[in-house]
Amino acid sequence: MGSKLLCLFLASVILAYYIYSPMPEDFEEPWKVMFISATLRTLKHLAEVTEYLGLQNYMEVLTLITNTEYVMPMSDENVTVTDTEFNNTTVRLYLPRKASDGLRRAVVYFHGGGWCLGQAGMKSYDRLTRRTSDMLNAVVVSVNYRLAPKYHFPIQFEDVYSVTKFFLQSSVLSQYGVDPDRVGVAGDSAGGNLAAAVAQQLLEDPEVKNKLKIQALLYPALQALDLNLPSYRENENKPILSKSLIIRFWSGYFTSDLSLREAMTSNRHVPVESSHLFQFVNWSNLLPEEMKKDHVYVSPTYGSSELAQKYPGFLDLRASPLLANDAQLQKLPRTYILTCQHDVLRDDGFMYARRLQRAGVPVTHDHAKDAFHGAITFVSFPAELAVGHRLFNRYIEWLNENL
Ligand SMILES: *[C@@H]1O[C@H](CO)[C@@H](O)[C@H](O)[C@H]1NC(C)=O
Ligand SMILES: *[C@@H]1O[C@H](CO)[C@@H](O)[C@H](O)[C@H]1NC(C)=O
Ligand SMILES: *[C@@H]1O[C@H](CO)[C@@H](O)[C@H](O)[C@H]1NC(C)=O
Ligand SMILES: *[C@@H]1O[C@H](CO)[C@@H](O)[C@H](O)[C@H]1NC(C)=O
Repeated sequence: MGSKLLCLFLASVILAYYIYSPMPEDFEEPWKVMFISATLRTLKHLAEVTEYLGLQNYMEVLTLITNTEYVMPMSDENVTVTDTEFNNTTVRLYLPRKASDGLRRAVVYFHGGGWCLGQAGMKSYDRLTRRTSDMLNAVVVSVNYRLAPKYHFPIQFEDVYSVTKFFLQSSVLSQYGVDPDRVGVAGDSAGGNLAAAVAQQLLEDPEVKNKLKIQALLYPALQALDLNLPSYRENENKPILSKSLIIRFWSGYFTSDLSLREAMTSNRHVPVESSHLFQFVNWSNLLPEEMKKDHVYVSPTYGSSELAQKYPGFLDLRASPLLANDAQLQKLPRTYILTCQHDVLRDDGFMYARRLQRAGVPVTHDHAKDAFHGAITFVSFPAELAVGHRLFNRYIEWLNENL
């Protein structure tokens, strides 16, 4: 009996030690966040072990897990939901059923998941896009672009671009009763990256006649050049998105070759020939003082040109929208950017907001001091957080006023 109790006690201590991770003081509901974070950490460890044993690729294991979140397209009293194809890419389409005085607004939405994971039919995304459609009485197109490691850059970008371009045709907009002057793109995390890239590339496309009214970027990834920004240093092991995971995602977007991941981990992947690009992601003059704190800017360490020749994607504007020059930024539509304090990607959002403002683009930048990466998707049981609802409501409010 005594030994059983002792085992139980030891097991509880180990479990508690595993679950417990110090949380920033300003987090609301720190215990809930800790449990969500420990669950996701366990799943990542499981994926690592499975990969290490040679059983299955890391992302495949995580894909199996995200698949359990899948929900069928289900219409409700306010929104008709269907899975369909736009120009050969599958989309989940949300059409409001409520009456409308005139033409409707529309949002083309790109889900997150590091270009490797996720889909429009995940419960959290289905809820987010359905509520967007319902609350704004707007058509929402949520895109199922193809994912890594099976497909690499630029496939993800091309899929979302071709859907957006297809949807922006006057004949298609009119089929869905959409006002051509009130269409926007939005996305979170890797989806925010895709939204920013699509908004930029549409401006260069002479075939596109209808322009976007807005772009909404929720904690977006915007550059793969400097992976040692202050936000990377401070939030290396914060909930949901660790530095090692974002580096897996970034490198996995371009290739399954481990040498890129290794070079990115030590932030030595950009060749000296591309040194001029660092001006666009130079945090020492793009971040506000309160984000710079006492971090010291050191000049970049350059890597081999061979890697960049093999995988030029990470230096490509369509993957790193922060590399656009001011003349390109100037023409962008009104922009919403959400950043979270405890997020490796925080400084990407800060730098883009600053660069857009300097270029004269109207920007609303909401910085959530008590939030972490992915917070907006935690709005339903069992992973429901007050901060998720708050960020979502703010995003909808902005869309309602600006789209
Ligand atoms: C449909 O809209 C009504 C009125 O806005 C709302 O009260 C109701 O909760 C909505 N139904 C669903 C399933 O969201
Ligand atoms: C979609 O792909 C099929 C072949 O798979 C092709 O015949 C068709 O023209 C494509 N449709 C569009 C709209 O591109
Ligand atoms: C459809 O997709 C193809 C590439 O798959 C692209 O070349 C074409 O421009 C797209 N059509 C429209 C209308 O966007
Ligand atoms: C970054 O900006 C600082 C000044 O704020 C400057 O000293 C440094 O040379 C810049 N570095 C690059 C690579 O642009």
